[in-house]
Amino acid sequence: MKFFVDTAETADIADLSAMGLIDGVTTNPSLIAKSGRDFKTVIAEICKLVDGPVSAEVAAMDYATMIKEGRVLAKIAPNVAVKVPLTIDGLKVCRALRADGIMVNVTLCFSANQALLAAKAGASFISPFIGRLDDIHLDGMELIREIRTIYDNYGFETEILAASIRTANHIRECALAGADVATAPAGILKGLSQHPLTDKGLQQFAADWAKTGQSIL
Ligand code: E4P
Repeated sequence: MKFFVDTAETADIADLSAMGLIDGVTTNPSLIAKSGRDFKTVIAEICKLVDGPVSAEVAAMDYATMIKEGRVLAKIAPNVAVKVPLTIDGLKVCRALRADGIMVNVTLCFSANQALLAAKAGASFISPFIGRLDDIHLDGMELIREIRTIYDNYGFETEILAASIRTANHIRECALAGADVATAPAGILKGLSQHPLTDKGLQQFAADWAKTGQSIL
């Protein structure tokens, strides 16, 4: 399973990248606005920090403008994955950019039928939003399971990029459901290493080691 970090904060990305923890990055207009920085400059910086796909989202909603924006974004670096919304125009843009060999992430997916359309449009990634479904009392994880089954039934190569992840448990469940990628905020990815029994065991070992009076170096 691949891990992408869902952020536009380059310091967080550099940190996780140094740990060898991430395989790519996702951003969205809200994360860019939160960073307070110039969109294309941030994407260029991120693309230098990671080798894997870096999702950069178009801002327009109509085909003609979206495709122009997608081509501008794709020129920033070879590892840019243009992010388009799951609309009819977005799917058309997906098909056209894929024909030019550009990676495309189809975002804002909330149903299995939407995911089926994205795969048929040749999407590199489909982004089902788990947390936002849970927020309205639907089952985000069930959507991941449905998409996995459908893609496997027909041999679609579109990667399931589980998004809107809010907890470490979401990541565990995504891995069990067979999502190809999980994108999550830096805090959640780092938090995966934490367990109270690890901390307790470490304290015990340190105390016992001190009793030996020995030094390894
Ligand atoms: C993914 O590509 C999105 O940027 C992100 O996961 C959305 O998460 P949110 O629902 O927590 O905003």
